[in-house]
Amino acid sequence: MKRDFLTVWDLSTGEIDSIIRRALELKSGKDGNRCPLMGKSIGLLFEKASTRTRVSFEAGIYQLGAQALYMNHGELQMGRGETIGDTARTLSRYLNAVVIRTSEHSRLEEFSSHASIPVINGLSNRHHPCQALADLLTIQEKKGGLKGIHLAFIGDGNNVANSLIEAASKMEINLSMACPEGYEPDPDVLERARDAAKSEIIILRDPREAAGRADVVYTDVWVSMGQEKEAEERKRRFRPYQVNNALLSCAKKDAIVLHCLPAHRGEEITDEVMDGSRSVVFDQAENRLHSQKALLEFLLA
Ligand code: CP
Ligand code: NVA
Repeated sequence: MKRDFLTVWDLSTGEIDSIIRRALELKSGKDGNRCPLMGKSIGLLFEKASTRTRVSFEAGIYQLGAQALYMNHGELQMGRGETIGDTARTLSRYLNAVVIRTSEHSRLEEFSSHASIPVINGLSNRHHPCQALADLLTIQEKKGGLKGIHLAFIGDGNNVANSLIEAASKMEINLSMACPEGYEPDPDVLERARDAAKSEIIILRDPREAAGRADVVYTDVWVSMGQEKEAEERKRRFRPYQVNNALLSCAKKDAIVLHCLPAHRGEEITDEVMDGSRSVVFDQAENRLHSQKALLEFLLA
């Protein structure tokens, strides 16, 4: 039975925990040059731009001994109208897994329903679960654990926020999310995560209140891919939600700063914070590589 990774919810708490442990082991270099995925081919089907997701998967797949095949949507017959289902059935005959970055989350679900290989969500409009795995790995590394951590997410209740909500629920992280009215996370994601959570998951309006008890302060862009037409209105609404030194001074003294990147410096995060001593955003970016290698091993080895 194939296992997909379309949302963080697809993994149990124990499975997330073992993926994080394995990622730490892979990062430490102890495992040498083992090639557990030797002879396998993994597709990367991207309908949106990417730096971290594409390159970390391509490099990670190579390091595991497998072949990565990057497919730009526009160069596939799918870009000329071949159905998602027919594409999924065909690619399942060649590949051992596929990573997909797309717009509507339903496109991933449709692909998965016709595929006989694991499908990994490399970002959809609703979820970014691979990012959340790397975020958990980064918090584990920097804070020595996950349970009971206070995480403040400041800004848009977007794909990154939805996956963080699920990750917080699974790993007993207390999450305070500050967003303007009308920009809350997905209500279904929130309800399911809250129902299952042993920790506190709250939505606030005031970013200072959210940052108040934070061990970790996290933000993401105000204008996600595909929202360019709303850019001006979004920048106006999110202005009070900038992560700057004044906001960071509300958090714990040893709070770290996360951002999934790419950052729009001067909008959701200032240079002083992004380049400051509490920012661990490039360690977080590096951790995409290690956590995804551990995920691929889990799904495929
Ligand atoms: N964080 C992230 O997914 O970055 P990319 O868009 O560069 O892949
Ligand atoms: N929320 C952002 C994340 C980019 C990694 C977007 O969807 O564009």
